[in-house]
Amino acid sequence: MSTGRRRGGTAALALLAALSALPAACLAVTSPYVRPAPRATLPLHKGADDDADGQTPQQVHISMVGADKMRVTWITDDAAPAIVEYGTTSGQYPLSATGNTTTYSYVLYKSGNIHDAVIGPMQPSTTYYYRCSSNPSREFSFRTPPATLPFKFVIVGDLGQTEWTESTLKHIAAADYDVLLLPGDLSYADLVQPRWDSYGRLVEPLASARPWMVTEGNHEVEKLPVVEPAPFKAYNARWRMPHDAGATPSGDNLYYSFDAAGGAVHVLMLGSYADHAVGSAQHEWLRRDLAAVDRGETAFVVALVHAPWYSSNEAHRGEGDAMRGAMEALLRGARVDAVFAGHVHAYERFARVYGGEEDPCAPVYLTVGDGGNREGLAGRYADPQPAASAFREASFGHGRLEVVNATHALWAWHRNDDDEPVLADQVWITSLAANPACRRNNN
Ligand SMILES: *[C@@H]1O[C@H](CO)[C@@H](O)[C@H](O)[C@H]1NC(C)=O
Ligand SMILES: *[C@@H]1O[C@H](CO)[C@@H](O)[C@H](O)[C@H]1NC(C)=O
Ligand SMILES: [Fe+2]
Repeated sequence: MSTGRRRGGTAALALLAALSALPAACLAVTSPYVRPAPRATLPLHKGADDDADGQTPQQVHISMVGADKMRVTWITDDAAPAIVEYGTTSGQYPLSATGNTTTYSYVLYKSGNIHDAVIGPMQPSTTYYYRCSSNPSREFSFRTPPATLPFKFVIVGDLGQTEWTESTLKHIAAADYDVLLLPGDLSYADLVQPRWDSYGRLVEPLASARPWMVTEGNHEVEKLPVVEPAPFKAYNARWRMPHDAGATPSGDNLYYSFDAAGGAVHVLMLGSYADHAVGSAQHEWLRRDLAAVDRGETAFVVALVHAPWYSSNEAHRGEGDAMRGAMEALLRGARVDAVFAGHVHAYERFARVYGGEEDPCAPVYLTVGDGGNREGLAGRYADPQPAASAFREASFGHGRLEVVNATHALWAWHRNDDDEPVLADQVWITSLAANPACRRNNN
């Protein structure tokens, strides 16, 4: 690392220290950090299955299903059984579950065999070893999330598959986290289906070891007039999420919710590209879902969307407005603590806001659409910075949300400072359920 870069990191920490000393109302910071140059898109990514035969599992990833189960998803080129064998000792698989296999075609592309099986019940905070399709050549392992607080999320959007994505993934892999949340725009395949496969290989080392809970972005739509009229074909086939599980199943892979830490955290994975108008299926589901959340039990409720509801970036201005108009009151009514978005390729943290005004009982809004995709960064901001925009910076990076206990969650955003992860913004988010001024009469 050069001296110049090190100085940049020190300046950021000094800035951070200065920030935490200021009263909340004075914060409106545009980071002075000077970013390094863009990096190239990766060649079509090859994986550990390179030299393998058609039955070797590839693109393995896992996602939570209910409190103590996990969905394993993988692909084989040739036909293979949809079986996952697992256990808590490497090389021994006393347990197993069989699921389903699907394929899809897209113009001239035909997918491999996409398998998924739900395994469990399993113990919390425990390492399980598993293999897919009874194939002995590749053993995988994951750690189940804890059933109590503390609970650690990584949150990153708009990943893509460039050399910056690799840098972001390397930093995430070095973090000790339980679950990754992705607010949309995964592969940037953009109709080129083999890019979904290369993305699956790129993220497999992380996504086979920790649950990846995702929701869709605009890059998942992939509709083509006449030839491919159905949206989300690849996304829904490859990234099936637990929309049929939990207390309030949504029945639609484009939006769902799940609990973490034994119900201490409730996560809403909303669909920016599914109908969200008042009266729509998504809106009705969200109303039911939030009505079933008991804030006496649930310390934190967080939501993810793709297009941000609050942003002072010039990119994608207003694209989240209709959804915000339809759903913002529901979230405030349920005292949702924070809303994370992607789409805008930059980082920004807003104060607690409702109806465009600062409101101590509304969610904090954060944009983390800066995973590293090929479209580059969104560096133009509204000037002057709105007072409710606490911190903004157009760099690639990722966020970490550690729910420490029933009242406190620590949010930290790490920029990719060349190849070093540098803590550039950090703030405590306190539970609105624990704030007497925001408590409702009914609980
Ligand atoms: C397989 O898919 C069918 C149809 O979607 C479903 O009814 C069934 O429950 C699935 N089986 C498993 C084991 O997941
Ligand atoms: C929760 O964590 C915060 C931050 O570490 C700490 O200040 C607070 O005392 C903790 N609350 C309890 C009840 O332990
Ligand atoms: Fe997007």
